[in-house]
Formats: sequence, C-alpha cells, structure tokens
Amino acid sequence: MGGPTATLEVGSDGVAIITLQNPPVNALHPAVLNALFNCLREAHSRQDVKAIVVTGAKGRFSAGFDINQFAKSGGGGIDSRINDNFCALLESGPKPTVAAVESLALGGGLEVALACNARLCTPGTKLGLPELQLGILPGFGGTQRLPRLVGLQTAAQMMLTSAPINDKKAAKLGLVDAVVPADKLLPAARTWAAEIAAGTKPRNFTLYRTDKLEPLGEALPILEFARAETQKRAPHLTHPLLCLDAIRTGIEEGGLAGLRQESFAFNKAASLDTHKALVHIFFAQRATKKVRGITDGGLKPRRIKKIAVLGGGLMGSGIATASALAGIDVLLKEVNQKFLEGGLARIKSNLASRVKKGKMTQEAAGAVFARVKGTLDYNDFCSVDMVIEAVIEDVGLKQRIFADLEKCCRPDCILSSNTSTIDITLIGAKTRAADRIVGAHFFSPAHIMPLLEIVRTDKTSPQVVLDTLEYGSAIKKTPVVVGNCTGFAVNRVFFPYTQAACLLVDLGLDPYKIDMAIYAGFGMPMGPFRLSDLVGADIGLHVGKNFLDSFPERTYPANLIVKLNEAKRLGEKTGSGFYAYDAKRKAKPDPSLAPIVEASRKASGLYKGGKGPAMSPQDIIEFIFFPVVNEGCRVIAEGIVDKPADLDVATVLSMGFPAYRGGLIKWADLIGPARVAERLNGWAAQFEAAGLAGFFKPCDYLANAAKNGTQLGAGVSPGSRM
Ligand code: 3HC
Repeated sequence: MGGPTATLEVGSDGVAIITLQNPPVNALHPAVLNALFNCLREAHSRQDVKAIVVTGAKGRFSAGFDINQFAKSGGGGIDSRINDNFCALLESGPKPTVAAVESLALGGGLEVALACNARLCTPGTKLGLPELQLGILPGFGGTQRLPRLVGLQTAAQMMLTSAPINDKKAAKLGLVDAVVPADKLLPAARTWAAEIAAGTKPRNFTLYRTDKLEPLGEALPILEFARAETQKRAPHLTHPLLCLDAIRTGIEEGGLAGLRQESFAFNKAASLDTHKALVHIFFAQRATKKVRGITDGGLKPRRIKKIAVLGGGLMGSGIATASALAGIDVLLKEVNQKFLEGGLARIKSNLASRVKKGKMTQEAAGAVFARVKGTLDYNDFCSVDMVIEAVIEDVGLKQRIFADLEKCCRPDCILSSNTSTIDITLIGAKTRAADRIVGAHFFSPAHIMPLLEIVRTDKTSPQVVLDTLEYGSAIKKTPVVVGNCTGFAVNRVFFPYTQAACLLVDLGLDPYKIDMAIYAGFGMPMGPFRLSDLVGADIGLHVGKNFLDSFPERTYPANLIVKLNEAKRLGEKTGSGFYAYDAKRKAKPDPSLAPIVEASRKASGLYKGGKGPAMSPQDIIEFIFFPVVNEGCRVIAEGIVDKPADLDVATVLSMGFPAYRGGLIKWADLIGPARVAERLNGWAAQFEAAGLAGFFKPCDYLANAAKNGTQLGAGVSPGSRM
C-alpha cells in the first residue's frame, strides 16, 4: 500500500465506505485530509451512493492531525480551507454520514467523528481531545461540537485535562450513539447510515444542536470558573485560555462564529513557543527508546519475566511494586525477617493506595501482590532474568553483593544497580560479569516516578542495554539510556541548581524569594530550597561532596548546606530545614533560619550587606538555570546521553522541568545559545576574583553553538565527541 490517503468503496447497499489510511494510528496527514475531502465530494455527487460511513484502516480510527506536520511547518500546518470544507461536507453534505470508530478517536480523529451525523464505536475505544497537551486546541470544530454533544461542563473538562474517556462513558454521555463489537462495527454502521438516509433514524447536525448545552446563565459561570481555575493551575499557559475563548464565542454567538474564533485561536496558539516545546517533548519521549548501536541493529530484546530485587526499603519496594504491576514475578530479598516484612508491607501499602485512588480493584491488587515472593537467601536466584540491587550506598557492600550474584545467577542474568551516586564499573569490579552489569536508576517514589535512567558502562553489552530498555517500557517507565559518570545524566546536570541558589543567598538574596521565582515564576514543582528539604540536607551534603570531588573546578561549595547539617535541620524529615514543617508536612518560611543564613554569608565572604544585588525573578531564573544548561551541554558533548532530546525528556520526567518549556536543552535553544553564553560569561567575569569563574564559564559545546549560531539540540555526530 502507498502513502497516507483515504479510499472510497461503494457497496451494493448504496453505502460508501471511506477509510482513513495512515498506519499505525491513521494520523491525519494533509494527504489523508485531501483524499478524505475528494472522497466525500465524490460520494456526495454519485447517484449510486445514498449514505457514507467513515472508518479507519487496521483497527484504529485516527489519533488526530499528523503531529509531524507541526514540527515541519513550525506552527499551524493546517490548511483552514480544507478544514472548513471537509467538516461541512461531513456534517451537512447531501448524504448522511456515520463514523465507525474502532480503538481510538483522538484530537482531529474525534473531530472527524463529531462532524458525522452519528457515531458507533467498539468496546475499549478511547475518545478525547488531547490537543492542549500539544500546546494547541482542537482545530477541526471540536471546541464547538463536543459541548453540543456532551454538555459544556464535561466538554470543557475533557479539553482542559486532555484526558480521553472510554466507550462506556462516551455512550452514557451521548458522544457515541452505540457500542458495537469490532466484527460487527462496519455492518452496523452501514445499516445505521442507510436508516438515516431512509428517514427511519434522525440525522443530527451537531453544530446546530443546543439541547445538550447548559442555558447561558449556567454556561457563562462554568466558563468563568474554568478560566479562573486554569489561570491558577497553569499561570504560564495561554493556549487553554484561547480554547476557552473559542468555546465561549460559540456559546454566546453560535457555532459558526465559534468556528471562526476557534480558527483564530488555533493559529495564535500554534505560533507560540509552548506549542513548539510540547510537540518536541511528544516526539522526544517516544525517541528515547531508539538508541544508536542498540536498537538500530538486528538485536531482539529478551523479555524479562522474573526479577529479583535486593533490598525492601523505599526504593526496592517501589521497584518491586512497579514490576509486579506489569505482570513480572518478583523475588524480594532482605537480610532479615523484620526488614523483609517491612518491604512486603510497603509493597502492600503501595498497592492499597492505588485501590484507594480507584486505579485498581482490591482483587487485582491481591493478584499483583501474589507475584511477589519474599526471601532471605539466594536460593531461587538461578530462576531470575534480572536482578536490581537497591541497598544502601556502600561500595564495599555492593561489590560483595555483585560477587555473590555472579555465583548464584544464570550466566545470562542481567545484574543491575539502582545506585544514584556510585560508579557502576566500581560496583562490578569484583566480578567477571562486566558485560551484563548495568545501572537501573529509578527516581523516588519508584513505583510512581516515570523516568528510568539506564546507565551503561563501556563494557555493558548492547543486548543487556536493549533488554533493560524493554524492561523499562514494560513497567511503563520512560527509559533513557545514559553513560556512566558522577550523577549520571539528571543528577549531574542539576548539581549546579542548588549551588547557584545557595550562592545567591550568600550574596544577600532571600531564600524564599528565590524559591518563589523558580516555582511560581518558572513553573518548577518547587524551588531549590524546598527540594533540598525534601531530599534532606545530609544527602545534599553527601552528593555535593561527590560533585566537589569529581568537578572541583566548577563546584560552588555551599556553606548553607553545611550549616544546616551542623544545626541538624535536615529538612522535612526533622521538621525543619530551610522551612519549618507542621505535622502534615506543610512548609512555612521559618524566621529561625536567619542566623544560619547569616553564618553562611559570613563564611562565604561574598556578602556586601543589605538585600544583595537587585535581581528580577527572570535574573534569578537565569542565574540558577544557565549553569544547569551549561552542565547539560557537557553531558551532550561527552556522549553521556544518546541525543540532546533525551536530556529534555529526562529533566521533565525527573525534576519536573516544565514540559511546556520543552525540557532543559530545548528551553535554552528557544532562548538562544548566544544569550545563555553571554550571561554566563558576564557572571564568570563578575565572580572571577572570588574564584568562581569556573562555575559559570560556558563549556566548549555551548560556546561553539553561541559562536556558530547552531542549536544545542542539534547534538554532536558520534565521531566528533569531545
Ligand atoms: N501524528 C503523528 N504521529 C503520531 C500521532 C499523531 N497524531 N499519534 C501517534 N503517532 C505516532 C507516534 O509518534 C509513534 O510513532 P513511532 O512509532 O515512529 O515512534 C506511533 O504513532 C505510535 O504511537 P505511540 O508510540 O504513542 O503508541 P501508543 O499505542 O502508546 O499510543 C496514542 C497511541 C494513544 C495514539 C498516542 O500516540 C497519542 O496519544 N498520540 C497523540 C494523540 C494526539 O495528541 N492527537 C491530537 C493531534 S493534534 C490534532 O489533532 C489537531 C486537530 O485538532 C486539528
């Protein structure tokens, strides 16, 4: 079969079947839309056609407009002439239309179905308008037709959350007219279409319906509430408000005026950086599973069916939970019965919390828990495909464990460590198994956080990396393959984050003002000091020392963290750190921090009195994040990540770097490498006398991009790594 298209086939019953064809998800490429338009014109004009059914090839209706087109056109990419014409032809052409929806109808896919005069779907179908996730809004009439089918309240919620609904809910709401088994879908849709043509079933023109819409007096408050909530929840985003504007125009002035407003709002949203950033993240997230030298050869992944987890602490129990949830059998090993029971109890409690949140039934949780077997010895280890070690960060202990594992596991068993700070090569130093040793670095809580860093050493075999990638996907994580270095990718690029914030405090800035700039001003889930309290100042000190040892020329030795440790203010776990915590762990600025700040400033020798240098929130953001970008550039240049976009995904999924900013490197590219380098050079000069030039000085990769006008996201070719 050729490229993206739509085909027309007319049956002896006089029903024309138009099939959208662009596997795997029948994305609406412009060629598909053009062909759909031509098929519709032909079907409407042919004498032998009395009704039309639109369906999708290969068991899927459509996942919407082809997102690749956005990336190519740099925004929009939709020909509004075709848009207006094909939706009008679907809805109000001479012949009635029915959508036969199998498996998924998302975005533009659902909008095609909405424009039809009736919709049937199969059990298990997902229907939704997730455009806001891409920084745009529905552009084929969804902002107008969805509220008219399911009511404004539900429609606004579906659009604002981007969350799809299932077939049952869709039927209940009236979004679909019937749910039909897959093998009966086309015959049922043909009959339905023929019946509309014969006048025995009504022909509905959704755009002109008002029966499901709330009266104006109710509708406007709903929209105002949605607007206020959106501004509160996502203060940096414009496109949800543009979407609400389009809905509102339709409610106040009718569907046709609403369509015009939708078109205007769509183009406006598509021109914003948010859209570019979110489309970048959409593709980058899918591309982390494509790794040079690993997935581009002939290797086939081996499925991981059974794993052993060493250590039932917070991390180990989380890893065990995520694995068991994915149908993997788990052996949980601990050193004594008490610890083992503690680990098993944690897994049980992780599952119970899913039950409480309505994510699974009690019965299903019981079945998942039954996949976990506790053990105190290595007896059953010969039956596992992979071991994940998650014990305390003690090199000697880990080395002894890996030596034991080599003896009791199969020779093809993957031996992995969840260490966040220790060199993976060192961990395996006392074994001969270097080719099957890999890092499997989870983020806490491991059963919830979506990222898995797969740390390969120069000895790890490609097959082991591939199998671990497969395991990561199986447990529903986004796996990112990284190289073996201090902090791996995420912790390494973020090491200047807290240090730059501490430097600002030593200069005289208020820590709470800094947190506010990063949290409210930039959109991180929390500021660096709140994060430090969450992680613990003791851990911060340990990690900081690691970086000081590895990169002494560019580390700011943060006095503030040392002083907090001396004062035993370790953060949330001790009830105070930068903030004071109440019994519910709610953080409040704490006046008793002042002497600690004062001592740190004095020790730094940088404080010149008063409130420090005048800095706007944007200055604070750049002062803290540009050194992070700089370290990200080193990580790219050293080949620690396979491609720069992997770093974008990793920073979004681990630290909560806002996806709508595109991840760390995309964000810097949208600002421009020249500006990033210029500011860093300015601070390097300013702090040279204090011995801190190295903390800011742009690395070669960044400096070259700034000089040559290239993008940081363009990466380095494999042969030219520095
Ligand atoms: N356009 C182009 N490619 C798409 C696509 C789309 N709308 N949706 C999915 N794909 C591609 C993916 O990039 C991937 O390609 P790859 O194999 O080369 O990496 C392939 O289809 C399979 O996708 P997934 O790996 O994500 O497969 P899953 O089965 O896990 O998920 C899905 C399928 C639920 C459809 C998920 O891909 C998805 O959520 N897609 C995006 C849906 C969406 O946002 N639609 C709105 C588009 S914008 C729009 O319609 C504008 C309109 O209002 C005018």
